[in-house]
Amino acid sequence: NKVVLAYSGGLDTSVILKWLQDTYDSEVVTFTADIGQGEELDPARTKALQLGIKPENIFIDDLREEFVRDFVFPMFRCNAVYEGEYLLGTSIARPLIAKRQIEIAQQVGADTVSHGATGKGNDQVRFELGYYALEPGIKVIAPWREWDLLSRQKLLDYAEAAGIPVEMKHKQGGAPYSMDANLLHISYEGRHLEDPKAMAEESMWRWTVSPEEAPDAPELIDIEFRKGDPISINGEQLSPASMLERLNQLGGKHGIGRLDLVENRYVGMKSRGCYETPGGTILLKAHRGIESITLDREVAHLKDDLMPRYAALVYNGYWWSPERKALQVLIDHTQQHVNGWVRLKLYKGSVTTVARDSDNSLFDQEIATFDDDGGAYNQADAAGFIKLNALRMRIEGKLQRG
Ligand code: ARG
Ligand code: SIN
Repeated sequence: NKVVLAYSGGLDTSVILKWLQDTYDSEVVTFTADIGQGEELDPARTKALQLGIKPENIFIDDLREEFVRDFVFPMFRCNAVYEGEYLLGTSIARPLIAKRQIEIAQQVGADTVSHGATGKGNDQVRFELGYYALEPGIKVIAPWREWDLLSRQKLLDYAEAAGIPVEMKHKQGGAPYSMDANLLHISYEGRHLEDPKAMAEESMWRWTVSPEEAPDAPELIDIEFRKGDPISINGEQLSPASMLERLNQLGGKHGIGRLDLVENRYVGMKSRGCYETPGGTILLKAHRGIESITLDREVAHLKDDLMPRYAALVYNGYWWSPERKALQVLIDHTQQHVNGWVRLKLYKGSVTTVARDSDNSLFDQEIATFDDDGGAYNQADAAGFIKLNALRMRIEGKLQRG
């Protein structure tokens, strides 16, 4: 039996690899994706080979452009934010991993897939909902829900016995947090963050300087949008992945996009996590800026009503569901005329919109002006508008007074 394992090359998934061979006598196919986590992929190949995986069973894919173009950007068209703050950096990567893993399973004729997410978290749900949606008959092995290697020491002992290279143990054993990184964010969970009243230490943050250490001079940038997606910074056209990479550099330099959050996991528990989403934080602000002049009021408000629903779908793992796809069609339809540019000021942890313009702008200066508008807007019309809107409140008010 063949199993396609989502393999990072780290200690945990290396132990899983061995455990699948030992426990299920599986022929393991490894799948490692570059989604911008900032790690070399060659070591994953080397380790897989060391652990006895045949070269033709090692899959390594650069999915960075696809990740940003087909997952991150569509989500940002919705301005999706979970529980008011979380920009869904981990959540949005899982559907893509699931998709590619299923494609590989189909290609190599594997009837089973496996992943390294624990039985307590969101990631298991996201991976597996994706697997089942894309390959209804697939079998899933989630070792963390089955084995008894629940302490770090047991895991290390298993690795030792299995001949998993020693340097990996030290590297991983010394890692202070459970981290997950991709082009959109890096997250930190576990260890002393498990106590929500304990502050995160400054040295934890990897992508951003602290706002206090950020440059004293603000920086202005112009982002251009087409159909709701960013296409250039300061006039320079950038591919989706390069766009997010550039925004991450800019945000990181100015201390933008740190978050320390207690959130509600889908499985029912609260969990505390810290996140750095520098580029995403800038992009969200910029996208709202361009929408502010290009979207009709009711369309914008409808989007805002639907946004938390969409965000929950992404958070809970329903990317491949019919309801998320239906919402996406509506959202994408609203972005037809979301074109133009936004100027942002980056300064010591903050990002502020300071100017915007569009050929599709619905902003009518002649109507909006405080000066004489030459009859473009008849102020006398407002009296009847207000009176009719007040009618039901007047009727109720009269009744109340008796
Ligand atoms: N709590 C966040 C989420 O559910 C981040 C999860 C991070 N995952 C991880 N394997 N460390 O999206
Ligand atoms: C995990 O439990 O594997 C990571 C955390 C999460 O999925 O929420």
